[in-house]
Amino acid sequence: MEIGKATAVACSNVPFIKYWGNRDNALRLPANSSLSMNLAGLVTKTTVAFDQHLERDEVVIDGEPAKGAARARVSTHMDLIRHQAGLRAAARVISHSNFPAGTGIASSASAFAALTVAACAAAGLHRTEAELSALARRGSGSACRSVPGGYTEWLMGQGNATSFARSLAPPAYWDLRDIVAVVSREHKAVGSSSGHSLAVSSPLHAARLLIIPALLTACKRALLARDLEAMGVIMEQDAVMMHAVMMTSRPPLYYWAPATLAIIHALQSWRADGLPVYFTIDAGPNVHLLCEADNAAEVRTRVQALPGVLDVLVSPPGGPAQLAEDHLF
Ligand code: PMV
Repeated sequence: MEIGKATAVACSNVPFIKYWGNRDNALRLPANSSLSMNLAGLVTKTTVAFDQHLERDEVVIDGEPAKGAARARVSTHMDLIRHQAGLRAAARVISHSNFPAGTGIASSASAFAALTVAACAAAGLHRTEAELSALARRGSGSACRSVPGGYTEWLMGQGNATSFARSLAPPAYWDLRDIVAVVSREHKAVGSSSGHSLAVSSPLHAARLLIIPALLTACKRALLARDLEAMGVIMEQDAVMMHAVMMTSRPPLYYWAPATLAIIHALQSWRADGLPVYFTIDAGPNVHLLCEADNAAEVRTRVQALPGVLDVLVSPPGGPAQLAEDHLF
C-alpha cells in the first residue's frame, strides 16, 4: 500500500566555476565554492512512492531497472531521508531524464535534486530550500546547485548544514544559452564521485584552490554585470585548470576526446571573427558553449557542422527544482 507519493522536476546545471575535489568525501563537502546556471532544456523528472509492502527500494532509471552501484546510491540517499522522516518503508522510484546520463552533462545533478525534492515531499518532510540543497548535495555534490533557481552559488560552508547552494539571480536576469556539443554518448569510464577523491593526488590541485576565491569574486561580479566576455575568460580558465588537475592526478583522468579540442579551436576562430561565445567542459568530452540568446542560432549552426559533433542541445537558464502534479506511475 502506498503511504506517500510525490513527483519533482529538476534542471541540470552548467558550472562557470567548477567543483572538483572534496574536503570530506562521505559528506561531499567540497574543496571549493562553485557557481552555475540551471539548464531549462536538460531536466529529470522523478516520482517517489513509499510502499509498506515493498521489501526493498525499486529503482527504474530511464526505463531500465537500476542494479548494483546505481541502485545502492539511490537507496543510500533514500535512507538519509527515511532517517530524517522516521520512516522505515521502502519506495518505488522512477526517474526519467531527457538527455544522456554520465557523459558530462551533469545528469546526477538533476537526478539527485529531483529525487531529494520528491522523496522529502513523499515522506512528509518539510524542508527549507537551503536544507533541501544540502540534502541533495549528499547524493551528488553538483545536485545542490540544481535545487535553487537560475544562477546559483554553492557555498562550500563549514560543515553539513552550511554547505548548500543559493540563488544569485533568477533565470530572467540574463538570457544566456548553454549549447552542448555532444561528441560522445558513452558512459564515462571514471565517474565524478571517484574522480573527486583523486584531486588531491595532483600537484596542481592546491594551486587551483588558491586562486578560486579571486576567480569566484570576479565571476560573480561579471555575472551580475551581465558581462559575458569577463565571465567567459574566467570560466574557460577554470575549466582548463580543473582538467589540468584531472590529467595530472594519479592515476590521471583524460576526459577530452579529439573532437573536444577541435571545438575549442573552432570557437577561438569564431571569437576572432567577432562571435562572442565561451566554453566549459565537465567530467566528460562534451563541450558546453555559452553565448547570449541573440547569437544562439548562429553558434548552433556552426557547431552542428563540425566533424565529430553527434548532437547539439540548447538550454536557456532554468528555474528551481519543483514538485509536479503528474506522476510517472
Ligand atoms: O556532482 P558530481 O560529483 O557529479 O561532480 C561534478 C563535477 C563537475 O561536473 C566536473 C564540476 C561541477 O562543478 O559540476
